[in-house]
Amino acid sequence: MIPQAAPPLRVARFRREIDAAIAEVLSGPSFILGAAVAAFEHAFANHAGVEHCVGVASGTDALALALRALGIGPGDEVVVPALTFAGTAQAVLHCGASPRFAEVDPHTRCLDPAAVAAAIGQRTAAILPVHLFGFPADMPALTALAARHGLAVVEDCAQSHGATLDGRPLGSFGHAAAYSFYPTKNLGGIGDGGAVVTRDPALAARLRSLRNYGFEGPERVSRRLGFNARLDEIQAAILLALLPHLDAGNAERRAIAARYRALLAGTSLGLPPEDEGCVYHQFAVTHADRDGLMRRLARSGIGTAIHYAPGLHRHPAFAEGQPNSLPVTDALAATLLSLPIQPEVAAGAVERVAAAIQECLSCPA
Ligand SMILES: Cc1ncc(COP(=O)(O)O)c(C=O)c1O
Repeated sequence: MIPQAAPPLRVARFRREIDAAIAEVLSGPSFILGAAVAAFEHAFANHAGVEHCVGVASGTDALALALRALGIGPGDEVVVPALTFAGTAQAVLHCGASPRFAEVDPHTRCLDPAAVAAAIGQRTAAILPVHLFGFPADMPALTALAARHGLAVVEDCAQSHGATLDGRPLGSFGHAAAYSFYPTKNLGGIGDGGAVVTRDPALAARLRSLRNYGFEGPERVSRRLGFNARLDEIQAAILLALLPHLDAGNAERRAIAARYRALLAGTSLGLPPEDEGCVYHQFAVTHADRDGLMRRLARSGIGTAIHYAPGLHRHPAFAEGQPNSLPVTDALAATLLSLPIQPEVAAGAVERVAAAIQECLSCPA
């Protein structure tokens, strides 16, 4: 069986470094917001090309705290895509605001700037683009739009660690950017974790307070409503050990994607968009009979996954007041299929996956 993804294989690959990182925390003086969190924040901010990184408990917390730190709250609307993980819109609800779903571009699968422009209204306070599957959203157009309307921009970088757009790191375009270190991510821990990066020192200070009961500095006095949403010390130590391998892992993903493209060219599959800055968190193809193809590949021992169906505008938690028709999102949600791309799974398996797909396509069930 070739799984669609298998985080334990990455742990096995880097086991010695992970064990050493955990051992250092175990013998150290501090298990909460200690040296590993501080060192990881410093290293990750450098990698992301920004001044500040605040480690938090998950990607959803990163989004919710970033919005809250930017002053987004009840009565505000945040423009988001509906073709994304539920956490993107959950985070908007968590800070008391409402998600306003806008259509994605059929080619990039990320927010369509024209649709965002049409969705902006009196209550709009922010735009939250998702760099879906590691492909860069159109940040020049979206940030220009935000500047014109005085809106905040929070990038959802949960799937785009190390990705760039025209050579510039994603995560450095908006007022803040949120990362998830969920185990399947391009940089993933062995549990939950997240981070917000920003160039703005005052925003970073508010985030440090929000993640830790509203405290400021060493004083244990709540200055505002805060949360226990800190990045765990052991996860930080593991992420710090894995960070030096991120760029090489992304290069492996690009090489696997190029091989898939070569082997699947000319088939009836729709292939993902190309950009040299893309980090292929997923290699998601489209096919009219997606569910049938998925079933037949499973019978051939090949794991695939669906990201994401249904669109968030069809989830009961978010549906109220939304446009009931997002045809591009619906069409993608019905046809997208993610092939194995995690290097530890896919590096030696691309030919087998592609051959099984060719076979399924050549003799439809
Ligand atoms: C695009 C996107 N946004 C937000 C999240 C939420 O991150 P977490 O699971 O760490 O809360 C995820 C992933 O899980 C994601 O893929």
